[in-house]
Amino acid sequence: MNAETTTHAQKLRNELVDKLVQGRERRGLTLPADVERALRTVPRELFIPGVSLEEAYANTAVVTKRREDGVNISSVSAPHLIADMLGQATGHHILEIGSGGYNAALLREIAGPSGSVTTVDIDADVTDRARACLDAAGYADVEVVCADAEFEIEPGPRYDLIIVTVGAWDVPPAWISQLTDDGTLVVPLRTLGMTRSWALKRTGDHLISHSNLSCGFVPMQGAGASKGREVPLGDGVNLWLTETHQDIDGAPLQGVFAAERHEASSGVTVPSGRQSSDLDLWLASHVPGFAVMIAQTSAIDGGLVDPSWQYGTPASVHGATLAYRGRLRQVADAEFEYVAYAHGPDGARAADELAGQIRAWDRAGRPAPTLHVFPIDTPDTDLPEGLALTKRHCRVVFTWPAA
Ligand SMILES: C[S@@+](CC[C@H](N)C(=O)[O-])C[C@H]1O[C@@H](n2cnc3c(N)ncnc32)[C@H](O)[C@@H]1O
Repeated sequence: MNAETTTHAQKLRNELVDKLVQGRERRGLTLPADVERALRTVPRELFIPGVSLEEAYANTAVVTKRREDGVNISSVSAPHLIADMLGQATGHHILEIGSGGYNAALLREIAGPSGSVTTVDIDADVTDRARACLDAAGYADVEVVCADAEFEIEPGPRYDLIIVTVGAWDVPPAWISQLTDDGTLVVPLRTLGMTRSWALKRTGDHLISHSNLSCGFVPMQGAGASKGREVPLGDGVNLWLTETHQDIDGAPLQGVFAAERHEASSGVTVPSGRQSSDLDLWLASHVPGFAVMIAQTSAIDGGLVDPSWQYGTPASVHGATLAYRGRLRQVADAEFEYVAYAHGPDGARAADELAGQIRAWDRAGRPAPTLHVFPIDTPDTDLPEGLALTKRHCRVVFTWPAA
């Protein structure tokens, strides 16, 4: 790269980091100094060769591998998501699960001279590519391993930060056994169709969360892969059900949108652009028959549905009745109200129930959830009060500490 290109790349990199810092400030968050320094140092363009500098410094993910059917299975993650997850915890001996090279280089900067970074990916194409990019960018001391990270990478080493950069449905025992006693596990965990990146630390025999943020990731492959199930509701609208926890029958819901739409106002408002992902998990914890509804743009443009978020709006199912959170309704200049919609024989009651739980969350002080991850054999009597779900390797509980 010539001097002029290097200077241009540096300028674009600094502009991107300025935007990341401002974006976090708007959400009341700061970017830790070591993360900011790493983002201003690592040349992202060297990890996505072949794209223009402008694309390399756009605030978006860059897909690096697709399956034959076109589904994205590997990418260099979006800078805002990387910054948010690195903002959840830093460490000195770090294991990254899911490699792209770029995040591993940032982690290497953060770990410092006496630290270490190992990155593991299940796909040899990805590790070969990451190895080559890391070497070219001067990060030859990052260890790159090709393996299924569902299992321990090698017996022995423990890490004070394990950062998972692939969508997980469970917390396999290996992630806990490889974590130091005071280490942090940052993991994008999907529960009831919603993915949140949780920063978890040990407390006694279990892990407890210290922060969470909404995110999306390509799903885990290998032994830890888990499939969801789509229940079609109408043209371009589906319920997304996860594995074991949602035994919902889609048959009675066929044609549900043809029925009259009942609406219920919640009276709960948020400023423009400040829709809360904590509310989604509150609704999952408190509304019977909870599920996530996904709508294609055509279904929204055609007027079939008007959800609060097309890629996963909170919904509930009661027999032949479907309720969901509607698009935020503008009530003042920069003020938007949560609303509930429902169709079906019990529509009026279902819309009221959903709106009522939005009000209950507001009355509770708009709390954020805490996630507890317990060993799979923990008896019910030892779990805290909250929404408890049994996964393959662990039991998770969402609790609602007073805001
Ligand atoms: C979003 S990419 C990782 C992005 C990367 N950390 C970066 O620097 O931007 C997710 C990666 O997880 C990998 N992956 C999926 N299942 C895995 C598993 N069981 N073990 C290890 N890696 C896995 C995929 O091959 C994919 O490359």
